[in-house]
Amino acid sequence: MSENLLFTKGADKATIYKELLPQIKSLTENETDLIANLANITAVIKEAFDFFWVGFYLVKGDELVLGPFQGSIACTRIKKNKGVCGKSLEKAETIIVPDVEKFEGHIACSSLSRSEIVIPLFIDGMIAGVLDIDSDELDSFDKTDAKYLEIITTLI
Ligand code: SME
Repeated sequence: MSENLLFTKGADKATIYKELLPQIKSLTENETDLIANLANITAVIKEAFDFFWVGFYLVKGDELVLGPFQGSIACTRIKKNKGVCGKSLEKAETIIVPDVEKFEGHIACSSLSRSEIVIPLFIDGMIAGVLDIDSDELDSFDKTDAKYLEIITTLI
């Protein structure tokens, strides 16, 4: 495993995601511990894109509970059908929110968050949680992020 993350600073995001994929694969492929892999994935995404907040929420009973993340302190528990995270979990699909103020039911863990993407996390074919990424700018996420973040969640 390389000690340093390598990516082309200033490149378009598809290029950076493509550069990250093999490095994430090599970080996770020989590690069976879920928390260790989730933690490193949040570190990779945060370092490469410097998003405001990158983290996982994991299904525990009827709630999503905060898992490994990079960023400021966040809500620890979200009811399964609440917020963007709960909606993504319920629908088992990626949700892109260009402006969090326009998403009914959005849960503001930080007032600095302006846009958001949430990707469902499947483990052994079962929905096990979500990957949640927040930006402090409006409209930060698009189909390119959805495509590559969905691939990243399959590398766990
Ligand atoms: N905004 C999320 C809650 C989690 S925080 O953004 C870290 C939501 O509406 O589900």
